[in-house]
Amino acid sequence: MHLSALIQDFPSQSTFKPSPRPYFNHSVEFKSAQTPEARAKKLDEVGLNVFSFPAEIITGCDFLSDSGTTTMTSEQWAALHLGDESYGSNRGFFKLMEAIHETFGAEFFNDPSTNQPNAFLFHQGRAAEDAIFKFIGALDDNQIIPSNGHFDTTHANIEANGMKAINLFSPELKDGNSNSHFKGNMDVSRLEKLLQEKGDKIPVIFITITNNTGGEQPVSLQNIKEVYGLSRTYKKPFFLDACRFAENAYFIKQHEEGYKEKSIKEIVHEIFSFADGFTISFKKDGLSNMGGGIFIRNNGLFIEKYPEILDGLMNYQIIKEGHPTYGGLSGRDIMALAVGLKTIVRDEYMNFRISQIQDFGSSMAEAGLPVLKPFGGHALYLDMNKFFEDTALKAGDFGGISFTALLLSAYGHRACELGYFAFGSYDSKTGEETFPEVNFVRFAVPRLRYEKQDLDHAVASVKSLYDGRDKIPPVDVIYGKELTLRHFKARFKFRNS
Ligand SMILES: Cc1ncc(COP(=O)(O)O)c(C=O)c1O
Repeated sequence: MHLSALIQDFPSQSTFKPSPRPYFNHSVEFKSAQTPEARAKKLDEVGLNVFSFPAEIITGCDFLSDSGTTTMTSEQWAALHLGDESYGSNRGFFKLMEAIHETFGAEFFNDPSTNQPNAFLFHQGRAAEDAIFKFIGALDDNQIIPSNGHFDTTHANIEANGMKAINLFSPELKDGNSNSHFKGNMDVSRLEKLLQEKGDKIPVIFITITNNTGGEQPVSLQNIKEVYGLSRTYKKPFFLDACRFAENAYFIKQHEEGYKEKSIKEIVHEIFSFADGFTISFKKDGLSNMGGGIFIRNNGLFIEKYPEILDGLMNYQIIKEGHPTYGGLSGRDIMALAVGLKTIVRDEYMNFRISQIQDFGSSMAEAGLPVLKPFGGHALYLDMNKFFEDTALKAGDFGGISFTALLLSAYGHRACELGYFAFGSYDSKTGEETFPEVNFVRFAVPRLRYEKQDLDHAVASVKSLYDGRDKIPPVDVIYGKELTLRHFKARFKFRNS
């Protein structure tokens, strides 16, 4: 009997959960052993601000950000050694050009059939945003840039360059009963109304994939096509903020009709076939620790309407970042990025990545914890209003800050308050606090860094704090209440301590 026939008599490997990871560890770093008391002492010293807590002594998971925190593959480490630090036209530049052609299309990076440079490297996403919005902002007064959800630095860069950033979140995002898989979509009817009423002030339309500000929810290809359709009717260039392009493609494959049989790579190609350009931070789905860029379709509407911006962008790059062939990056980082782009679109990588977040979310939900659903592609959000709803804590007690301080000191996991404190504001004239609509603590999961047992421990830790939630005290803000971006800088103290 053939072995291939014999194995049919045994249960299929796919029935065993969890599946083995599609990779093994290449090198590891041991954590330094710290007691909860030692962590508490350190956190007290930095005013309970988890951003200022030394990462080196985190014994659990560091969920502060998925940005730039990726564990690189052995192929990336090998590529790093081949980094060429030449000032002009380093080896990595050509490798990256090849990888961008392959991933997004030849139209986005100095297509050899044209002489026009249309790809601009930057050291990270926000530097690229500042560059493009500086030139768009100079086109006219009082311009508006609509999006399905601008990320906070995108929003800030648009407004710092004299324009207004508008978020047209989908109605499903606000509807707690909606089962939509694509809550990150743009509200197309509001976009059309805006184009009809203020079209002459709209220089470009943006869609962020996945929609980080909109609960990190994905966007459907159907929605991308509809927005693209409007952009053609009204002759407006259509851009993507593409940081998590591959994670978004995965959700399309899973949940959108007609895409099950397509590869992540094919879906990515289809998404980008509609874009006149994109901005990107490679610190997410570039699988690299640094990098960003602006890529403009060489035969697209953006270049047709604003051809002078290309040379402006290159001048900006030279003044601010360095020669356009490295754009603020070291040659070795460019090499690691070129390899990262090849890994990110592998189906087995993405299956693992998304199922890890989904399993983490399911474990939280099964433990009775108020986690936002559906779970997205890079983070989980804990609803702190629901977490504390049967306790005496009030909005101005900033329970999310107390929670993150206790989670880090008692259990060694670092999460980030993105709620009443981070997005609220204090008016020093009236002494009044304004609170945002939502109040979350975010658990962003770094790529290829943690294993199931790390995440299980995090769930048990959150559950323990939830069970003892009536013992969690309020905090007072002892520094920085009135500052902008205050969550990065403020200091706190537990009340009556
Ligand atoms: C959707 C989105 N756009 C832009 C950025 C900015 O990128 P960077 O952190 O590289 O400046 C981020 C970073 O988290 C993001 O999530």
